[in-house]
Amino acid sequence: MPERFITPLIVIALLLGTLLALRSTNSALVTPVPVSSVVALAPDMVPLVAGDEPITEIFTRAGCSVCHTVPGIQGADGRVGPPLILGITGPTRLTDPAYRGHAKTVHDYVIESVIEPGLFVVPGYPAGTMPIWYGAKLSALALEKIASYLERQGVTPAQ
Ligand code: HEC
Repeated sequence: MPERFITPLIVIALLLGTLLALRSTNSALVTPVPVSSVVALAPDMVPLVAGDEPITEIFTRAGCSVCHTVPGIQGADGRVGPPLILGITGPTRLTDPAYRGHAKTVHDYVIESVIEPGLFVVPGYPAGTMPIWYGAKLSALALEKIASYLERQGVTPAQ
């Protein structure tokens, strides 16, 4: 092959390599949740939660642990949804200009997020993923306990 063809070929190969490398870094940036971690949770997989169970059991039975990391709850290390450290993140949600819900306190924001998750989708996380049927599975007492627990997380050591 004549030498004058070889240099352009090398340049083209280098350019292609750079392009491919750039493409893979970009797609890593725009895809925060890998497809393999999408979790399907059907209502019949979740029993009714009365609220008199220990707090860990409330989160585990309801399946929250599959998708969320919750401080102090053993086995709650899911990464599909945001870590439930509402003591830190809650106030930010309530003042988010995109927030269209009705909650005025972090406590109510947690309850609202569980019963009506479509009202506000946490930026950077997939919409339509958090189940919409928890209102039919969790008693009022269970919801209260979930909210009281989560609103403290992040600000005080897990308890
Ligand atoms: C199948 C996965 C999945 C399950 C199960 C699930 N969630 Fe979520 N959750 C998400 C995702 C994804 C988001 C973020 C997108 C959104 O706001 O809808 C979210 C958002 C939230 C938020 C708002 C968090 C924030 O930082 O503002 C709360 C609170 C919450 N979930 C609580 C719960 C509780 C409590 C349970 C169990 C009763 C639960 N979730 C079960 C996927 C899940």
